[in-house]
Amino acid sequence: MRGCFVSSSGLAALAAVGIVVGALAPVGGASPAKSSATSTPITVTASEFKFVFSTASVAAGGTVVFTVVNKGKIDHDFQIAGKKTPTIKPGKSAKLTVTFAKKGQSAYICTLPGHVAGGMKGSFAVGVAPAAAPAATKTAAAKPASTPTPAPAPAAAAGPETLQGDPVAGAAVYKDAGCGGCHTLATAGTQGNVGPNLDSRKPTQGQLRSVIQSGATAGGAIMPSFSLSPTDLNNIVAYVYKATHP
Ligand code: HEC
Repeated sequence: MRGCFVSSSGLAALAAVGIVVGALAPVGGASPAKSSATSTPITVTASEFKFVFSTASVAAGGTVVFTVVNKGKIDHDFQIAGKKTPTIKPGKSAKLTVTFAKKGQSAYICTLPGHVAGGMKGSFAVGVAPAAAPAATKTAAAKPASTPTPAPAPAAAAGPETLQGDPVAGAAVYKDAGCGGCHTLATAGTQGNVGPNLDSRKPTQGQLRSVIQSGATAGGAIMPSFSLSPTDLNNIVAYVYKATHP
């Protein structure tokens, strides 16, 4: 009887192995060549404030190994198809392997605050023709409807200029836009040193408005432009102006 049990479980085991091997064999035979043929290496260069791809598209079903290189002066990351690299320091890189199952445009962004507003976003073509270069974001940027409140009445004038926005609400805009990554501003507690120290620069509201909307490139370092809603723009201008003109 004992022998019976052993031999029947032995047979069962053999049968199970046979099934597994039978099921796997064709896949195992075909996959080594196939997977290396469909894995596409793509280099993505990140800087302030854009991503540049070595290749702008891939076939549907393809696996891409993105090597994201940060050639900028501040931290960046790269998020696409629900996957994200860690934060990458200037001069460093990170790899991200993504398999694109479906055809279409796959959106990518840098998730650091303010970097999408600066221009670090776009779409990667999967099994379709690459999209035209992203439309200029300067004028028609749709603003998430998070601040539907109209600009409050001008607060009591700080310094010689009358404020058009709300300096209290502007603090959040300054933070979200990532200004502090590049600028020192004591009121905000930021110590960036890519751009001028705002406490010493003491910009006028006109200078703030213009540099935020148009950016600046004098002196080699780049101040990106930001597409803010009129309300956010008024508020951040009021905030920085008030903070630098106590
Ligand atoms: C990527 C870094 C970076 C970020 C982010 C950044 N700036 Fe700048 N900013 C600079 C640099 C660099 C300059 C100097 C540009 C030049 O000299 O042409 C500058 C210049 C300025 C100036 C001086 C303008 C003038 O006329 O002298 C102001 C004011 C300013 N930035 C405000 C801001 C505000 C507000 C934000 C957030 C909305 C911001 N910056 C975000 C880098 C940055």
